[in-house]
Amino acid sequence: MNILIAGAAGFIGSNLSDKLLKDGHKVWAVDNFTTGKSENLESFKDNKNFIFAECGVETEDFLKFCSDQRVKFDQIFDLACPTGVPNIEILGDEMLEACSNGTKNILRVAHEHNARFLFTSSSEIYGEPEVPVQSENYTGNVDPIGWRANYEEGKRFSETLIMHAVRKHKLNARIVRLFNVYGPNMALGDFRVIPTFITQALVNKPLTVHGAGTQIRTMCFVDDLINGLILVMEKGIAGEAYNLGSDKAISMLDLAKEIILATESESDITFIPRAEHDHNSRMPVLDKVRALGWDYKVDLRTGLGITIDNFRKRITAYDVKYSIDESLQLQPQG
Ligand SMILES: NC(=O)c1ccc[n+]([C@@H]2O[C@H](COP(=O)([O-])OP(=O)(O)OC[C@H]3O[C@@H](n4cnc5c(N)ncnc54)[C@H](O)[C@@H]3O)[C@@H](O)[C@H]2O)c1
Repeated sequence: MNILIAGAAGFIGSNLSDKLLKDGHKVWAVDNFTTGKSENLESFKDNKNFIFAECGVETEDFLKFCSDQRVKFDQIFDLACPTGVPNIEILGDEMLEACSNGTKNILRVAHEHNARFLFTSSSEIYGEPEVPVQSENYTGNVDPIGWRANYEEGKRFSETLIMHAVRKHKLNARIVRLFNVYGPNMALGDFRVIPTFITQALVNKPLTVHGAGTQIRTMCFVDDLINGLILVMEKGIAGEAYNLGSDKAISMLDLAKEIILATESESDITFIPRAEHDHNSRMPVLDKVRALGWDYKVDLRTGLGITIDNFRKRITAYDVKYSIDESLQLQPQG
């Protein structure tokens, strides 16, 4: 199949490109490297079935790249959006642009190509949930003028654009709401909790736990997640949203302890102030995606082992300094 991936140089996009190429597909990919890295494309950039353009999805260059290819895209994955909690402020303009004009442009291409379309939304669209578990019909608790709104409302607006296109143009589009994902190719300095803790542990610096570390998250290994994205693309119903992730909870303090153990690190744990906007807990209901035949298979200890090996290979002095200095002041990803 001919498949377009927007945001292909990112953590999930690069793992998805790799898998789709290995499955024998031809992949067209775009990324503007806002938070992605060219090194993530290294292992397959010379593959003749991989065609890459550096451009933002909100630009004319993106539309031109798509029309210049003179192929029909069968599937389009839209992952293009800056990530990382501190980037909600630092890359606020880019986030809002990707979620508005970017999503609009990709939907336009999907319509022109009559392609199946999948958008990676986020558990952040539920905001600070008032219910202990979140099913897809929970409408969330988001503050539109709150600190996290650039990302939370950005993703919500993208979802609205998609549903409008489904209703107006009968677009074959589905939404996947990702809960926390981890694995190889996460950027070392991207402030999310697992890369931050692993980097700190590998250089024997204290792991910075925010507050008492009682925040609860669920962590899904990227290979499981990719299988879920491909399955929902193929079997998911147009106009439906699907939660995707793990439903096994872990507190941030327990996660820090687990990573110290897995890295055999001499690090201690240090407790630092917690941001007001940090969410307490998130827990997906996974019935809809399980009904399609998906489940996660990789347990946390195995997934952490694979991720730690990957980090050991990539770690550099610059990345360590960046990750550690910044993570002391800024929030790990919720
Ligand atoms: N990793 C997670 O835990 C998680 C959780 C929820 C949702 N998501 C969503 O999944 C998608 C992929 O996330 P990720 O973890 O791989 O993050 P990432 O930051 O590694 O990847 C996002 C990619 O999109 C690119 N990008 C940003 N703006 C762009 C634009 N305007 N045009 C083209 N490319 C652009 C970035 O450079 C980057 O390569 C994102 O949409 C993110 O919001 C991820």
